[in-house]
Amino acid sequence: MKYDPSKEKCPLPYSIFRACITPRPIAWISTTDENGIDNLAPFSQCQIVTIDPPMVMFCANHYPDDTRKDSARNAESTGWFVWNMATEDLKEAVNKSAMIVPSQVDEFELANVAKIKADLSQIPMVADSPCQLECKYISTQTIKGNSNLGTVDLILGEVIRIHVKDEYIKDGMMDVSKTQVLARMGYIDYATIGNSFSMQVPMAPELLNIIMCGSD
Ligand SMILES: Cc1cc2nc3c(=O)[nH]c(=O)nc-3n(C[C@H](O)[C@H](O)[C@H](O)COP(=O)(O)O)c2cc1C
Repeated sequence: MKYDPSKEKCPLPYSIFRACITPRPIAWISTTDENGIDNLAPFSQCQIVTIDPPMVMFCANHYPDDTRKDSARNAESTGWFVWNMATEDLKEAVNKSAMIVPSQVDEFELANVAKIKADLSQIPMVADSPCQLECKYISTQTIKGNSNLGTVDLILGEVIRIHVKDEYIKDGMMDVSKTQVLARMGYIDYATIGNSFSMQVPMAPELLNIIMCGSD
């Protein structure tokens, strides 16, 4: 099949686009609003942007009435957000924290997620997550959609502090298979890593060293 989404509706009963780009990581974003109410929500429209300095982004679509998501507004107003690693152990809480509830509701409480305070801001982090990235908000790019729901706030942040629980570090690296990190597939489907392998691009050892160890 093929179709042109700028001109026609998907000919299948379910929209296929988001299943074309899978698995997607899940940025489980914690923020706090100006009144100190904590917020937690998953975003699979998210990625690493660059590595030096490390930067990440997540994309929050507007609601049908054009209001913006709390995660985007809070990151802007406080200047901080935290990217928590979403894992299989925490999947029920990840799902619950996506519920659309009033801004006054603390989704940590709603989803029964334990908090620990970040080091550099008042933002809470997911205590049981293997890894948390404290991010300083950099900018918002709002991309106008064909509808309010299509309009999206792309939030960019610089990772200022990286936390990884020691039990997830093995041989000087993150033990990714131990984390059982959660990924978003298309539709309502999810995945964890079941088959990982190593493969090296043929290159000079200095370049390989940069990839493995960073640019410093
Ligand atoms: C796994 C998962 C991924 C999601 N990814 C996104 C996303 O990338 N962008 C988005 O706008 N909403 C996404 N959602 C929906 C938001 O999590 C949901 O609207 C949430 O209530 C937003 O909360 P907030 O207003 O507290 O920021 C996702 C939901 C789930 C379950």
